[in-house]
Amino acid sequence: MTQDEAKRMAARRALEFVEDGMVLGLGSGTTSAIFIQELGERVKQGLKVRGIATSAASHELAKSLSISLTTFEEVSELDLAIDGADEVGPGLALIKGGGGALLREKIVESVARRFIVVADSSKLVATLGRFPLPVEVVQMALPIVTRKLEALNLNPKLRHHPDGSLYVTDEGNVLLDCVCGAIPDPAKTAADIRAIVGVVEHGLFLKMASLALIAGEDGVREVLP
Ligand code: 5RP
Repeated sequence: MTQDEAKRMAARRALEFVEDGMVLGLGSGTTSAIFIQELGERVKQGLKVRGIATSAASHELAKSLSISLTTFEEVSELDLAIDGADEVGPGLALIKGGGGALLREKIVESVARRFIVVADSSKLVATLGRFPLPVEVVQMALPIVTRKLEALNLNPKLRHHPDGSLYVTDEGNVLLDCVCGAIPDPAKTAADIRAIVGVVEHGLFLKMASLALIAGEDGVREVLP
């Protein structure tokens, strides 16, 4: 099975949790994009849902598939959010933000009654940290935040696009990817990073996911926190 096939299996399984009338959080990244495409098919067949997207890209994709979109002017809570992850660790502690959308993802998922992660089995890890931990930073604070992350031995690297241009998030901030290796105590690392003024958000999603649908050779496994 290819990684893309596994992603599709997880995304399809997630559709089984969607009910008519729900307000959904729509994630970002390739697995979420497959979910949104599959959701679009269901909408064509008559399913009525509204969504709030976690990135401009997911918003545009949902719009192109005629999925109704709403805003936090209209809703305060979501029934269900579906999103991918870069790493899924014990207790469903996650690293997210590989696609640069961690800020909106965390906002949307923080108000979802249920947050389901969709991923292929390569994302499951015993300890978080093999994947660089993204930290979103206000541009003018970049030098001081960089020094403070260095002092925490988190080894921050400024994110660029493959063409060398600076990566700027949907909210106009920049990203420092912390190539820090194993994160033995994610709650402490999250608190240390959050204490730095100029940090907007970080990619550790702790105690947020309710379920992970992890697809691999043996099918889709349901993993609880
Ligand atoms: C984007 C994310 C994505 O959910 C994460 O990068 C996983 O992406 P993919 O499904 O493409 O592997 O956090 O900010």
